[in-house]
Amino acid sequence: MSDAATGPDMPQRAKPRLRGWFNRLIARPSFQAWASHFPLTRGLARREGAEIFDLVSGFVQSQVLMAIVELRVLHRLMDGPRSAAGLARDAGMMPERMEILLQAASALGLIRRQRDGRFALVRKGAALLGVPGLEAMILHHRAFYRDMEDPVALLCGEVDTELADFWPYVFGARGDVDPKVTRTYSDLMADSQALVAQDTLRMVDLSDVRCLMDVGGGSGAFALAVAQAYPRLDLMVFDLPDVVPGALARFEAAGQGGRLSVHGGSFRSDSLAYGADAISLIRVLYDHSDDTVRSLLSKIFDSLPPGGRLIVSEPMSGGAVPERAGDVYFAFYTMAMRTGKTRSSAEIARLCTQAGFIQCKAPAPLRPFVTSVVTCAKPL
Ligand SMILES: C[S@@+](CC[C@H](N)C(=O)[O-])C[C@H]1O[C@@H](n2cnc3c(N)ncnc32)[C@H](O)[C@@H]1O
Repeated sequence: MSDAATGPDMPQRAKPRLRGWFNRLIARPSFQAWASHFPLTRGLARREGAEIFDLVSGFVQSQVLMAIVELRVLHRLMDGPRSAAGLARDAGMMPERMEILLQAASALGLIRRQRDGRFALVRKGAALLGVPGLEAMILHHRAFYRDMEDPVALLCGEVDTELADFWPYVFGARGDVDPKVTRTYSDLMADSQALVAQDTLRMVDLSDVRCLMDVGGGSGAFALAVAQAYPRLDLMVFDLPDVVPGALARFEAAGQGGRLSVHGGSFRSDSLAYGADAISLIRVLYDHSDDTVRSLLSKIFDSLPPGGRLIVSEPMSGGAVPERAGDVYFAFYTMAMRTGKTRSSAEIARLCTQAGFIQCKAPAPLRPFVTSVVTCAKPL
């Protein structure tokens, strides 16, 4: 959990002059030309070249994926292989253009070009359809990519981002948000919640908990997953007043209505409900500034009994060991939302400790692109 400068960076820091000389050598086109032919270096040079080209072309790959999802190509291949001409007819597109798209999707491993020239669904493409909410998330990326169009302007804070409008609650909106907007983001969150709940519940044991309150629990998807995994545990959901009725409806539809109480309010201006011996914050902290997080953690500390537990689960930065999901995708997504930021487990643990919590732990994440977890406890 330490953010200290250890690990792979050490030799670089220990011998900066040598490293500088080496980097200048590698950056010379003549050295690159030599390295790509010399038998001992050409494997590495080609591999690195391919990795660099992957970075260069990443946006195009994402846009190919967007077209595949928008045109429902994977769904259309579910019943068997299809020709480019047939799929082009469905999409109202010229066959040659559809052929280009399908060839690209094959290169990305989502589908396969057969010997007879038709295209078939393969495992990766089918798996994509099996991830709840992923297609909706990909389509919603249009707004994110528009915000990312000028990344330097975004970094300088000069972009009036669309994501900030899509997630209006983070500005503390209350009562003045169109219920349709509220529902759209709650649905998107609930759809993508299944994987987050799966990984969180694999990393955290709640068998000694009597009542869990999910703060920022949205429409109750995580709370219901907990209810189903722990049949004797009672649940509370605290969220904005417009949002909590969705949680009650979800529990009632699952025949679990009697196990949930909902509490509408804003954790920015209201105190939290009492009665839970554990509180979860699932994908909540990264939406908010350090000041809001400090105030929320202190409210949580107050509402828990001695020995009560806090579970934080959300995508996190790799901290001292940067990693792709947390430090590339989520770091820029939260920047585009404008109010929060992606934090490392060490930063979250530090904020929890400042609020009075002890025994902060960060189990090794199963899938960092889905979620990471920090747990801690209120002293006895
Ligand atoms: C990113 S969503 C996560 C929802 C859910 N925990 C999940 O993982 O699917 C953040 C949640 O925090 C809630 N939230 C944001 N600001 C809030 C506030 N000031 N008071 C209460 N809830 C808030 C939102 O309504 C939303 O349900």
